[in-house]
Amino acid sequence: MKFTRTQSLHGEITIPGDKSISHRAVMFGSLAEGTTEVTGFLRGADCLSTIDCFRRLGISIEDKGEQILIHGKGLHGLSAPDQILDAGNSGTTTRLISGILSGQTFETTLTGDASIQKRPMGRIMEPLSQMGASITSLSGNGCAPLRIDGRPLHGIHYTTRVASAQVKSSILLAGLYADAPTSVTEPALSRNHSELMLNFFGAEVKTEDTTATIQPEPKLAGQKVQVPGDISSAAYFIAAGCITPDSEILIKNVGTNPTRDGILRVCEMMNADVTRLHENADSGEPTADLLVRTSSLKGCTIEGALIPTLIDELPVIAVMACFAEGTTVIRDAAELKVKESDRIAVMTENLTAMGARVTATYDGMIIEGGHTLHGAVIDSHLDHRIAMSFAIAALNADGETEIQGADCVNISYPEFYRDLLKIQK
Ligand code: S3P
Repeated sequence: MKFTRTQSLHGEITIPGDKSISHRAVMFGSLAEGTTEVTGFLRGADCLSTIDCFRRLGISIEDKGEQILIHGKGLHGLSAPDQILDAGNSGTTTRLISGILSGQTFETTLTGDASIQKRPMGRIMEPLSQMGASITSLSGNGCAPLRIDGRPLHGIHYTTRVASAQVKSSILLAGLYADAPTSVTEPALSRNHSELMLNFFGAEVKTEDTTATIQPEPKLAGQKVQVPGDISSAAYFIAAGCITPDSEILIKNVGTNPTRDGILRVCEMMNADVTRLHENADSGEPTADLLVRTSSLKGCTIEGALIPTLIDELPVIAVMACFAEGTTVIRDAAELKVKESDRIAVMTENLTAMGARVTATYDGMIIEGGHTLHGAVIDSHLDHRIAMSFAIAALNADGETEIQGADCVNISYPEFYRDLLKIQK
């Protein structure tokens, strides 16, 4: 797909449903008794993989257009699938479902696409094994395909090496089936959607500092879930509004859970013109509309506990940094290397191809802003967040940019190019 410079961006975008919350609504709805009605569900390929896996585990899930209906069968209602489960490109599906499958009375094989088969699963295999599950990497390299033999599980207290909501949630979900409470302590707080939604469904999850504790064997009941818009999808329009001349964009329905809103704090540090409007906290997951205008950005340092609150936004923040005055330093973000692609290497390679001054470090990037970007051929490495980040860069670069594998945006934001085109003036 090809892009050239845009003059300005104007208009309104309504952000599609949050990917993390959509996955969890399907999973917890499946484990609840009765029907769960999900509005605002994200129909991205990753969340459709979750639906497919739970259908194969015997759950009836209806797509009614406006709503997804999940006819849950309770904590012990899943049945053995007659095929290998396929999580596609989705790390969240793979890691969270592994926790659930560890507590079943049957054996499952779980795989995914080429990217998933390279992503580290040792980080869940170790704690789930400590709980008593039998979980094996069939290739022997700590990656999927995984064979998971459900066993009676024990409650543990586990300290994770990285702040990862996928790891934390995997352990907490196994904890639903344990013989005693299960706790997870992380080095910094990762997104807490599992904790909030499990409590909403009737589980007992308590959080103190960076430790979450779940009580076993709750009775989960079907609920109505309203999924807010995904701040990770809004991020592309936040960046675009800031770096494109003469622009003003109203971004509607953005989830602003404090464990996810790091990009808004970075916007403050970078002097971005972003205003929160219509803040609403009625549904347990706060939302706001964001008014974004062309900004004179300044470089900043992004590190420490802020990193897990914006981990998926770092590719597009790196693009913003190219348009800022001064240097931006991103550190403590080695996790970027084990996402859908090695995002430190891929961002550095592609931004450099466009004329940016970027140095990759072992846990981040150093970006010297203020150098005009030019068009280039960009390899997305089939990573949705790379494709979307470079579409934003390309609208603000001289000449033509070609993004290879641009369709991978289907993973998290199928209407991305349509929405982007809508606001180009
Ligand atoms: C996710 C957690 C994050 C994030 C991913 C979705 C989730 O991964 O990068 O896109 O839904 O829990 P980690 O928590 O493993 O960093």
